[in-house]
Amino acid sequence: MKIGIIVHSKTGNTLSVAQGLKEKLTSAGHMVSLEQVTAANDDEINADRIQLIKKPDIGGYDALIIGAPVRGFSFSPVMTAYISKAGSLHGKKIACFVTQAFPFPSMGGNQAIGQALKLCEACGASVCETGIINRSNFKRKKMTEDLIERFGRLF
Ligand SMILES: Cc1cc2nc3c(=O)[nH]c(=O)nc-3n(C[C@H](O)[C@H](O)[C@H](O)COP(=O)(O)O)c2cc1C
Repeated sequence: MKIGIIVHSKTGNTLSVAQGLKEKLTSAGHMVSLEQVTAANDDEINADRIQLIKKPDIGGYDALIIGAPVRGFSFSPVMTAYISKAGSLHGKKIACFVTQAFPFPSMGGNQAIGQALKLCEACGASVCETGIINRSNFKRKKMTEDLIERFGRLF
């Protein structure tokens, strides 16, 4: 299966989870590309004002994994802007994860994932799996290993 891992990551946390996922899925025999979304104004909180620089073309992928940080108890505005403009996601299998600094999903992660689900649904896709990495949770390492294992079995 051709899988695109599409990531927004400013300081590398989300990217490092994505790299683990890429290794896992590649070793399972998939064709995997890891692509980053970037913006000229990465700190902007209003997704409508985000000016995207790198906008990966997702047309050729059978499945997508979308990864992004939590920003202000919300899904990354950069990734929000990207998905909103990415066109139809109809027919693609999609999984989505977020990374966040705070220790528990109730501290922004759940809200961010809820927003990501709505965004994907608005583009015609249903999300088959979600995950949250809480970086200051003492189980962070296991959380990351479990997410990679779980997502690795999806395709
Ligand atoms: C502007 C801004 C807002 C943030 N808001 C939250 C938040 O609401 N909850 C949280 O747990 N972490 C928050 N964080 C921390 C990031 O979600 C966390 O460090 C994430 O892992 C960064 O991912 P990255 O290294 O891939 O950019 C925020 C970070 C920034 C820069």
